Amino acid sequence: MRFILTRQNLGQWAADYIVKRINGFSPTSTKKFVLGLPTGGTVVDMYASLCAASREGRVSFKQVVTFNMDEYVGLAKTHPESYYSYMHRHLFDHVDIDPKNVHILNGNAANLDGECQAYESAIAHSGGIELFLGGVGRNGHLAFNEPGTPFTSRTHRVALTQSTIEANARFFENDLSKVPTEALTVGIGTVTDAKEVLILVKGEKKAQAMRRLLEEPPTQDCPITALRNHPNAAVLVDEGACQDLSAATKEKLRELQSKNPQQDTWTLEI
Ligand code: GLP
Repeated sequence: MRFILTRQNLGQWAADYIVKRINGFSPTSTKKFVLGLPTGGTVVDMYASLCAASREGRVSFKQVVTFNMDEYVGLAKTHPESYYSYMHRHLFDHVDIDPKNVHILNGNAANLDGECQAYESAIAHSGGIELFLGGVGRNGHLAFNEPGTPFTSRTHRVALTQSTIEANARFFENDLSKVPTEALTVGIGTVTDAKEVLILVKGEKKAQAMRRLLEEPPTQDCPITALRNHPNAAVLVDEGACQDLSAATKEKLRELQSKNPQQDTWTLEI
């Protein structure tokens, strides 16, 4: 796993990387680029930078297929905080993606288990995910896979933990009673099956999750640690997310920085 510390804007860095990966892949109608996508506050900048890249003609989404990580159960698609609305507002309404290539779990499906199975089949049918982008929850959750979820899990229905409900209340007028209590989410296995995974982590609220990721062996009590077993995973972090790392890891980062002071991005192989 690569632990990438940057002083650049995380979203800009990630968008530049996605553009490079899509263009390097040279997707066609018979060889589409399959992208896994997250929601959340951290990745808003990334979507803004992707929209700018598309506007400036640096990337096209015509041959890109997307699968979103998760969606609330029982929230109307048209609700501004549904992940359907979020994705259209931040990306899909501004780029040349073909709507039939966009996949978002339907949290209002009559048969929620059937919806999850169909989602897994659609991913398999697309040939698998080339690059899965993600964020992380304060408790280490990946997509909506809360602590305790098996690393082998596939797309499923989940009850959100109190900590996630509290963290997401900011999107619902800080009213806990307005936050949905359930969601559909890809599984940890669905994410780690992707050929490549890139997770964006910003700020001190995520520092404990980063400490566990780097300092402890992988455990299902902290879902993000599943990345340690992945052959091509990277975590892109800012200084705030590093604040709880052990003195030894901080020292390694400082060494890297002092060896390459002219850079603004440093990579630690874990
Ligand atoms: C939600 C999403 C997660 C995301 C997390 C982090 O819980 N389901 O996929 O990683 O938020 O959000 P933020 O970036 O707002 O901290």
